[in-house]
Amino acid sequence: MIKKNKITILQPDDWHVHFREGDLLKAVTPFSSRINGRCIAMPNTEIPITSSEHALKYKEEIIKNANNSSFEVLIPCYLTENLDLNEFKKSLINNFFVGAKLYPNNATTNSSYGVSELEKIFPALEILQNEKKILLIHGEKVRDGVDIFDREKIFIDEDLKKIREEFKELKIVLEHVSTSYGVDFVKTNKNIGGTITPHHMMLTKKDVFLKNNDIDPHHFCMPVVKNETDLLALRNAACIDNDKFFLGTDSAPHIIEHKLPNDKIRPGIFSAVCSIELYAHIFDEENSIETLEKFSSINGPNFYNMPVNSSKIHLEKKEWIVPDMTLYDSVKVKNFFGNKKINWKIVNLNV
Ligand code: NCD
Ligand code: ZN
Repeated sequence: MIKKNKITILQPDDWHVHFREGDLLKAVTPFSSRINGRCIAMPNTEIPITSSEHALKYKEEIIKNANNSSFEVLIPCYLTENLDLNEFKKSLINNFFVGAKLYPNNATTNSSYGVSELEKIFPALEILQNEKKILLIHGEKVRDGVDIFDREKIFIDEDLKKIREEFKELKIVLEHVSTSYGVDFVKTNKNIGGTITPHHMMLTKKDVFLKNNDIDPHHFCMPVVKNETDLLALRNAACIDNDKFFLGTDSAPHIIEHKLPNDKIRPGIFSAVCSIELYAHIFDEENSIETLEKFSSINGPNFYNMPVNSSKIHLEKKEWIVPDMTLYDSVKVKNFFGNKKINWKIVNLNV
């Protein structure tokens, strides 16, 4: 097989990014906006985004800091058990929200407003389904007795199957799929797609939970990375059998002070600095560089019923070392893959 050293692909979109707020937002926004046509900005800000006013303000803050004038930001409404449903419906109809995001209560960063009793959000899901908007799901069941590595499977069995059964036409994205069980669920059910992060295709739990019982805070995220078999299933789903899967980095920056190795380490991996390059690196390792464009730039818009981007980006096979840190004023964030070599580089695009 002749291996390609250069590719041109339609401009990608990132269907799952955390932009944060304030200086941290200023520090990280240039990276996601340099390469992507569109990003879904996650609504788990300090005060979650549940109103159109808040969504609009947040969009403006991101756009102001973007370095690409045609960059588009899409926001899902953060689902809580006591949303004003009339407002919710109006905001969907007026396209203030691309859909809604289900965070199980306390599953991850800023999810204390999340859902504890699934049935309580069924009226909101009914509206979503009627308005043909997307339900994005952080698919983890968090309760006593459920091991951290089993959260995705138990969520699928106990909650996702219920949602699927009750709302058959509702389009769902199972976000940051992390298990082969999750991959199979997406493949075998209707009206459901999945996003896959680079880190879930590069790390296993041995990279997080170290031999000396320490945790590597910079590899700690939710859902936690799993086993080799899961990693391989995810690579296969992204690179080979990829009709239902698309790009969502879940780039989730935390200031370095929140990543100190103690019992309050915040989950989240910041990959925006090198995200498309990481995907190219992985696809090339899987001899699948040809299918990158489908995953990065076509399947997502198809699922969300949007046109693909009209511009293109170029990538070449060229080693480079990812900078260790992202700095902005007093903000310091550790970059995923910092100080490590990647084989692919975007051409002519600098932050
Ligand atoms: C995300 C964050 O920090 O906001 N963390 C993470 O580990 N992925 C939240 C999320 O998407 O779960
Ligand atoms: Zn996320």
